[in-house]
Amino acid sequence: MSPFATSFETISDLLGGREAVQRLLNVGASALSNYLKRESIPETKMAILREALAQKGWVLEPDSLNCRPADQDNPPVILLIITGGIAAYKALEVARRLGDRGARVRGVMTKGATNFITPLSLAALTAEKVYTDLFDLTDESEMGHIRLAREADLVLVVPASAHFIAKLAHGLCDDLASTLCLASTAPLMVAPAMNPAMWAHPATQDNLALLRTRGVYFAGPEAGDTACGEIGTGRLLDPGLIVQAAMGLVQHNPPAHDLAGCHILVTAGPTHEDIDAVRFIGNHSSGRQGYAIAAACAMRGAEVSLISGPTNLDCPHGVKRIKVRSAEEMQAACIKMLPADIAICCAAVADWRVAEKSEKKIKKQDNANPPVLKLVENPDILAGLCQNENRPQLVVGFAAETGDVLEKAAAKRLRKGCDWIFANDVYQENGSVFGAQTNELIWISDKDSQHWPNMEKEAIATKIAEELVQWHKTG
Ligand code: PMT
Repeated sequence: MSPFATSFETISDLLGGREAVQRLLNVGASALSNYLKRESIPETKMAILREALAQKGWVLEPDSLNCRPADQDNPPVILLIITGGIAAYKALEVARRLGDRGARVRGVMTKGATNFITPLSLAALTAEKVYTDLFDLTDESEMGHIRLAREADLVLVVPASAHFIAKLAHGLCDDLASTLCLASTAPLMVAPAMNPAMWAHPATQDNLALLRTRGVYFAGPEAGDTACGEIGTGRLLDPGLIVQAAMGLVQHNPPAHDLAGCHILVTAGPTHEDIDAVRFIGNHSSGRQGYAIAAACAMRGAEVSLISGPTNLDCPHGVKRIKVRSAEEMQAACIKMLPADIAICCAAVADWRVAEKSEKKIKKQDNANPPVLKLVENPDILAGLCQNENRPQLVVGFAAETGDVLEKAAAKRLRKGCDWIFANDVYQENGSVFGAQTNELIWISDKDSQHWPNMEKEAIATKIAEELVQWHKTG
């Protein structure tokens, strides 16, 4: 047996056998035999294996295909800073899950945080001393704050209050937590949580913009119900997603800039087609999938132009966003941004708009029939990009289907003239893909179709970026 085959057998054993690997990679036995024959595993499949093994405490060396136990003597060190806010209790789950993923978590709590949870709870979950006070001389002799800051592979603030974000933006350091952030040279990831009005306040938004220009990573916040009873953006991102983002950073820190030099156009979100001064035709797209793709491509060094319909999302770091409202505006913005190497049309564009939009609010008349709206077809942005004289070399569409997804999406790919199409069954038993955190796709190209199981939209985006890297290398 060749060293490749032997290593592959080891991987299979660790993951529960050949059939388990087939299910995990969503391939048949013949595909596995081909990998063995070619002695090469596609990058996307390798990423899935790496992740599955990491969850079992193993590290896969991609070159040799050797597996070794995650280095227990040298796990990534994450400095988890907890600031004062009702979401502080969720930081305990983040701490526990980071530990489960093999990280060593050193907890630091602000005075405000200790009003919500105790250092003892955090110490019990991390099996480490928890630090709270800059002027604790015992700690200074045991572990000075500079050393605490320098030994971190990542500084993670969960939850980050508006006050703490303001301190970070302006370099204030009047307690241990803020001093550590200033003293550390490790990447900084911030998971904000606050009242929606505080989040939306220009002071907070300016502080966030400043931090983004300095390369601070953000995990959330989400839109939804907040602890104060208001609805809007400001809720702490799901702890599982925070852990995924944080471990992603420490494990692939930083991701290779293998899309550098590529200009990628991404459309995202819904379009709003105005009926009158107050009403519009829209849909439930949140923009999350498209924004995640834009972010994943930017992380890989691409120059990304994100043409976004109306959403509540923040512009991902390193992405140029052009905000639009209607399909016609989206099309004009896309054409303006050409030339591009790749276009990814993830937006849920309204197929129709009203023929004659009323500048004033259409008044409801007593005893009158409701108005009849005449609709006209919107331009097809994806098809238009495919036919443009500056056609991007790779044009990728999404297909939102209900039933017979593969057949309908394959036909749509040919009709619109794009190279790849990602088909999603948008109405599933557990709810719509529109606005959801996860997605399940079939990737269709001229050669092949491939099922991608249900996963976080951010994970889908990472996989798409990896496929783009392959295309970029070979295309
Ligand atoms: O935004 P999220 O809440 O995260 O949800 C993600 C999503 C479900 C919106 C996304 O995964 C998705 O499926 N996007 C495409 C939705 C859609 O409009 O599909 P469609 O089958 O109607 O259109 C096919 C393709 O043509 C799409 O690439 C679309 O962007 C494009 N199109 C459609 C109509 C039009 N006038 N112009 C277009 O460019």
